Amino acid sequence: MLAIGSDHGGFALKQEVMAHLKARGVEFKDFGTYTEASCDYPIYARAVAQAVASGECERGILICGTGIGVSITANKVHGIRAALCGDCFSAKATREHNDANVLCMGARVVGGGLALLIVDTFLDTAFSGDERHVRRISLIE
Ligand code: RB5
Repeated sequence: MLAIGSDHGGFALKQEVMAHLKARGVEFKDFGTYTEASCDYPIYARAVAQAVASGECERGILICGTGIGVSITANKVHGIRAALCGDCFSAKATREHNDANVLCMGARVVGGGLALLIVDTFLDTAFSGDERHVRRISLIE
């Protein structure tokens, strides 16, 4: 199960991402926001991060205007490795090297086409499991 959330700035892109996940057959839970009304991104970022940290969901996707606010918030939750990605190289590398468990994107930064490729890259790339990366992740903790 994948957790997904956004603020109003990421709402429209989240709809595109959810349609894409449905088409891919990926199960997800939408933690809001559920309208385009102005709202506070930490509420939704924390909800998604806690769902991942608790094990309710395996990974998460967060979207706000820049992707920055949701990534700062998500990374405050213990066990979360949230990566702000605006390109596929970063999405691949952060899965392989950081075992990132939350993908953050900025809806005012990336278009829908690129965002869906970033999502696919994030979902389809495994953690390398290399000893040096395991060691570095344990040093974060
Ligand atoms: C909302 O205007 C905007 O501040 C928010 O979506 C996000 O970019 C914050 O980091």
